Amino acid sequence: MNSHHIYPVELLSKELKEKHLTQRAKVIWFTGLSGAGKTTLGQRLEKELFARGFLCQILDGDNIRSGINKNLGFSEDDRVENIRRVAEVAKLFLNCGIITINCFIAPTHQIREMAASIVGNQNLIDVFIDAPMSVCEDRDTKGLYRLARAGKIQQFTGVNSVFEPPVNPSIRIQTDIFTIDQCVDLLLDKIIPEISF
Ligand code: ADX
Repeated sequence: MNSHHIYPVELLSKELKEKHLTQRAKVIWFTGLSGAGKTTLGQRLEKELFARGFLCQILDGDNIRSGINKNLGFSEDDRVENIRRVAEVAKLFLNCGIITINCFIAPTHQIREMAASIVGNQNLIDVFIDAPMSVCEDRDTKGLYRLARAGKIQQFTGVNSVFEPPVNPSIRIQTDIFTIDQCVDLLLDKIIPEISF
């Protein structure tokens, strides 16, 4: 043992890091159809929380799938692996005291249960970003529904791949009946008490 170092090195605890950051770390998981508003609301939520002193990290299908998960597609198995890795990454942030905002379809009960068991139910705030399929398809923000209908994208969620709506989410946000600002306010009202000391 080198006398200049103090051994054994102990991991600093989540609680210590939460105190350091004066926040309680949670995994905020936005689930819902493509086009329901997960990314939009996730980004707005991060900004609003940051302005109030909370440190978050967004994990989003659109960026994770071009990096750490770029070898994965949209088969059932690949979606499971996608969500498994994302949940493990979120858990690392969690243990570092950092709030993650996860924007992923996570289409099935089974996939969401797996994610919950990885991060721990007590650490999870599951948010159903809810808009009817017809509304998401009309918005078609990325033009993907049109391509899916034309048979140019296979296994597209809601078109030819399953989406099981969450039955009992912690929070449900109906993006077809509320404005973005109203949705953000609803989220802040529900989430801030959960992440504050
Ligand atoms: S998940 O099902 O594995 O949770 P994830 O949220 O990571 O999906 O990725 C969804 C995003 O990938 C969509 O917002 C969309 O932009 C894009 N995408 C491309 N192909 C598909 C597809 N077949 N089904 C769903 N989304 C797709």
